[in-house]
Amino acid sequence: AVVTFVSHGGERHEASLEAGRSLMQIATNNAVPGIDGDCGGEAACGTCHVIVDPKWSEQVGLSGADEEEMLAMNPERRPTSRLSCQMMVSTSWDGLTVELPEFQM
Ligand code: FES
Repeated sequence: AVVTFVSHGGERHEASLEAGRSLMQIATNNAVPGIDGDCGGEAACGTCHVIVDPKWSEQVGLSGADEEEMLAMNPERRPTSRLSCQMMVSTSWDGLTVELPEFQM
């Protein structure tokens, strides 16, 4: 199963989805540019922000309360924004596409 990260400039990076990891861990393990994960997955830094393709939003779920607090501080926040460290990956997400916001380049 494959996830595609699309940078703000349109560059695509594919990575394999491994169940039991967060989407942030998958991005950092695959050196996807623009996902830093500075806080290590505590929903406290906001450097793992992704914008989920609206087609996928229902399947991957919406943000939780801690996540929402962090996202709310970000002016680039979109309706389907998530902190990727709070997204526990499922192999059923094959074909998922997420975009990276402009400030994460
Ligand atoms: Fe810090 Fe996700 S890694 S908020």
